[in-house]
Amino acid sequence: MIKVLFVCLGNICRSPMAEFLFKDMVNKKGLRDEFIIESAGTSNEEEGNPVHYRVTKKLAEVGIKTDGKHARQLEKYDYNKFDYIIAMEQRNIRDIYRIVGEDRENKVYRLLDFTSNPRDIADPWYTHNFDITYNDIIEGLECFIKILEKYR
Ligand code: 4NP
Repeated sequence: MIKVLFVCLGNICRSPMAEFLFKDMVNKKGLRDEFIIESAGTSNEEEGNPVHYRVTKKLAEVGIKTDGKHARQLEKYDYNKFDYIIAMEQRNIRDIYRIVGEDRENKVYRLLDFTSNPRDIADPWYTHNFDITYNDIIEGLECFIKILEKYR
């Protein structure tokens, strides 16, 4: 079982988008039973709130539902619970360390560091551009799953 936690700031835009897109990718490869996939935010600002309507709308266009997901804050215990803790941007990584402590087992990564063009995923909360976020997340997830498949 591979346990993956996607992390952003609020857990209403980027990390739930990554969570549901990755679940879809894994389902389509017939690997659903091999993964536990969740998302969380470093801040408690949006705690309990549903996925941002622009994310829900974008995912609905490709037939993916976000029903039942509510924002939750990252907890210290998540570090033990997950194998991969995947941040959307460098700032998240700093905030993740603040919550979970040192990354003793090398579990914390930035999503687009799996690609040949390492960079942050821009926050659509500020850019209002959910298409760029979507494309960047897909690019990162495709590279991430390739790496997982290589080492299976
Ligand atoms: P996210 O976007 O980190 O991609 O979920 C944000 C959502 C909410 C806030 C910031 C970023 N906020 O400040 O409430």
